[in-house]
Amino acid sequence: MITHENNSFHLSGKGFSYVLRIDGNGKPVLDHFGPSIPQGESLDSLIPQPPLPKGRSAILDEKKEPSLALADACNEFSCPFRGDNENPSLVLEKGGATFDFRYASFEIRPAVPLKSLPTPRGGEELVLTLLDQERAAKLELHYFLYEEEGVLGRSIVLENLEGDDLFLKKAMSYQVALENRDYLLETYFGTWAGEFQKEETPVGHMGYFFGSDTGSSGPGRNPFFLLKERKSTRDYGYVYGFQLLYSGSFRAEVQENSFSRIRVTAGVSPLGFSLSLKPGERFESPLGLFTFSDRGSDAVSEAFASFSRGRVLPLSHQDELRPIVYNNWEGTYFDFSEAKLLRLARQAKKLGIELFVLDDGWFGKRFDDTSSLGDYSLCKKKLPHGLRSLSRKIHKMGLQFGLWVEPEAVSPDSDLYRAHPDWAIQDGVHGPVLGRHELLLDLTKEEVRDYLFNELTRVFEEAEVDFVKWDYNRELADVPTTNAFPFRYMLGLYDLLSRIRERFPRLWMENCASGGSRNDLGMLSFFDTCWVSDNTDSFCRSSIQTNMAKGYPQCVFSNHVSNKTSHQMLRKTSLDTKFDVACLGVLGYELNLSELDPIDEAEIKKQIAFYKEHRPLFQFGKIEILEQKEGGRTAVFVSKGEEAATFLFYGVAPTNPGEETLPVGILEDEALYSYDVRREDISFLRFGSLINMVSPVRLKEEGKIVHFLSRRKAMPSEDFSGIAKGKTLRSGGVKLGQQWNANGLSSSTRVLGDFGARIYLLRKEAAD
Ligand code: DGJ
Repeated sequence: MITHENNSFHLSGKGFSYVLRIDGNGKPVLDHFGPSIPQGESLDSLIPQPPLPKGRSAILDEKKEPSLALADACNEFSCPFRGDNENPSLVLEKGGATFDFRYASFEIRPAVPLKSLPTPRGGEELVLTLLDQERAAKLELHYFLYEEEGVLGRSIVLENLEGDDLFLKKAMSYQVALENRDYLLETYFGTWAGEFQKEETPVGHMGYFFGSDTGSSGPGRNPFFLLKERKSTRDYGYVYGFQLLYSGSFRAEVQENSFSRIRVTAGVSPLGFSLSLKPGERFESPLGLFTFSDRGSDAVSEAFASFSRGRVLPLSHQDELRPIVYNNWEGTYFDFSEAKLLRLARQAKKLGIELFVLDDGWFGKRFDDTSSLGDYSLCKKKLPHGLRSLSRKIHKMGLQFGLWVEPEAVSPDSDLYRAHPDWAIQDGVHGPVLGRHELLLDLTKEEVRDYLFNELTRVFEEAEVDFVKWDYNRELADVPTTNAFPFRYMLGLYDLLSRIRERFPRLWMENCASGGSRNDLGMLSFFDTCWVSDNTDSFCRSSIQTNMAKGYPQCVFSNHVSNKTSHQMLRKTSLDTKFDVACLGVLGYELNLSELDPIDEAEIKKQIAFYKEHRPLFQFGKIEILEQKEGGRTAVFVSKGEEAATFLFYGVAPTNPGEETLPVGILEDEALYSYDVRREDISFLRFGSLINMVSPVRLKEEGKIVHFLSRRKAMPSEDFSGIAKGKTLRSGGVKLGQQWNANGLSSSTRVLGDFGARIYLLRKEAAD
């Protein structure tokens, strides 16, 4: 609810209140962002006692407000050189560098979507309008309240009213001022195939500035971050969560001033920004989002997850169960033919898979990654009968059909580039900067967007696709330095995506950028799922996913079970372990299904049947991250209705491991829960020459017989089941079987080894 009383505005959502006030200088200031204050309660006590100006502070209006210095206030935006000497959120120029916007009016209304940028659905909005009469400029602060989830959005609009051009050098989406309660900043950095690595740092006076200038929001740093009390835990203490609904280069800045106040600001990266507005032109910033919990970080994750599911993800598939995918990339790479694909599709169907996705290499003369991007003609050598014929054959098997595209890129060796070299982004002076042998297309040009829209529409219709994987495989470079090119590129991309979405509302769309290089809420406004990372190694993937779950809902995590030997890490893990990790989110397979051993086939069938039985829990359940030990054990709990599951992911096996209990999240104390472990297959190969302890004949460790056997048979994993009260489970009352410790093997011994995993299912029993 948003209310207005005297000069104050009270925005209250689940778990928080945000109280703004227009001060004596006509500047909006933040009086409170923290635990809920009941609506209607007096806000007077929140108003700071006018302080005596500190030493050398510049006083904005000494006659009228002698005690008000911008340097002391919790400003909701800041322009430099008028007394606010902290890091500014707005840097503008129009015949001089100083700006002084003052409050003019307000409006409270049902939220109105931004014109050119993604906006969440629904909500209530407060608009504060401020004017700088001298510079003939208008600033609007837009606050979007999503009450039920407890999320607040902020965007700014700048308008040049008349006269000279207005230059925007920096225009951040939000600025929040908080008293420092010994906060730590939790951020997520990474690299290709190593996205979402967690980093914690105290907030210091020297400031912490991070972001991306690669043209996309990741993988180096993600726009999602937390500010949390040092003493906070997953279910205790003050935690603030921040997000940006934007997919391009961004900047976040967190700095403490000399009086223990932290300023947090984020928005489009100022590098290469400098946008000029002619009289009558407006700039609107992407939406920044924040939330607060006084009950630890899980509540922040849940707020962002439920908010994204309900208001950001495309409406067409919002609550729909995501299909189980087969993607041929790691199974075939570029080396496929129609016959090979059909063999894979038949096998996929037999295993229970629901959607077949043809990845890169179906067009032009794309036998490797050096050519043909931009051309949407078919690679006749691989698919002589055409895409429609392939798609119909696959549909006839009872599978949906999906296709890979990389629309934003063009290969120098392509018909498109030969016809329109000027459509590619290049500085025209130096040689082109290539990335994966590609250039990017200039999406700021309408004719480029029209070409892509027409070609994609033609191909999607021709191939009768149900699913599209939209890839993006290089960083932006060689950009013109004028007029905010990287920002306008994103506007172009959003425009193209909106048109595709409108034209194909029922299409499943997956966001991919060499894995997770653009996994943000901007892209998720158009996509139903995202390819989390090109790294499908289960150990790496478990930490990437777990960290990503802190800011994003797992119903978008596209996770594939890939070859046992990871192509990224050369680490060998069982298909069952890979499944345990891939199961938390949207399941898929990405290996050569035509080369499976009988035991692998049986395992995959069991995995898929299990997943189908509990799919709503795995895709839409509420996540609690119970434990996360770097290189050690990670425990993630997911619950929905009567069902719940604990996922345990392990790192390097400890020697002589100690006792462990089954960790669980929120359960009803007095309810009874049955629990059991998903049974897995343990390969005989794991035991090396120890196999001779049970074999009637002597077997060689790596010998042919053991290999022959292990392709057909396996040892079942440990037994584990029971029934217990919620409070018993929560107090650590259920012991897990002993991990392998080289002192024998019983039916309860957990053979996990290095990088093992398990899934434990819990079900609430009906009361008698
Ligand atoms: C990068 C993606 O992340 C992969 O999954 C695959 O689609 C390749 N591109 C294809 O070129």
